[in-house]
Amino acid sequence: MITMENIIREGHPTLRQVAKEVPLPASDEDRKILEELIEYVKNSQDPEFAEKYGIRPGIGLAAPQINVSKRMIAVHLKDEDDVLYSYALFNPKIISHSVKKSYLTGGEGCLSVDRIVPGYVPRYAKIKVKGTNLDGEEVVVKLKGLAAICFQHEIDHLNGVMFYDHINGEDPFAEPENAISIER
Ligand code: NI
Repeated sequence: MITMENIIREGHPTLRQVAKEVPLPASDEDRKILEELIEYVKNSQDPEFAEKYGIRPGIGLAAPQINVSKRMIAVHLKDEDDVLYSYALFNPKIISHSVKKSYLTGGEGCLSVDRIVPGYVPRYAKIKVKGTNLDGEEVVVKLKGLAAICFQHEIDHLNGVMFYDHINGEDPFAEPENAISIER
């Protein structure tokens, strides 16, 4: 089981590496890692569980965050319209995106960042992601809103990018151009 002790924090070099593709079909070892990632995210949203094990709630987690530099992400969230997005993917890739951007009004956070970094994080408003699930099936997911933002945050981790890299250093709350705001 993944706990906060397994999650590496900013400053750790793995968070800045470009993670390696997972050879498919996935090995049992890689499958187990991805299962544990999605389990963490789900469990972390259960307040009793989170308190018992002292874990921070999250809506997504990427393998590099547990010091495994391989392309795997887990996302589990209910969006603004109460639609559940629950995905554990090997080798997720953004295959298309909107020109329009979006950002969360409350900014973003990260289980690997133990501080609040204020500022807007511009993302694509809509994306299409291709990846392979735990059943070995190739899936294409269309995403918008919070789900699109969460996937982009996690895929960034596979490329050594942190959310605050996108914040305007001069003016963190400058309205991003051509962007819609999402209350959160
Ligand atoms: Ni993160």
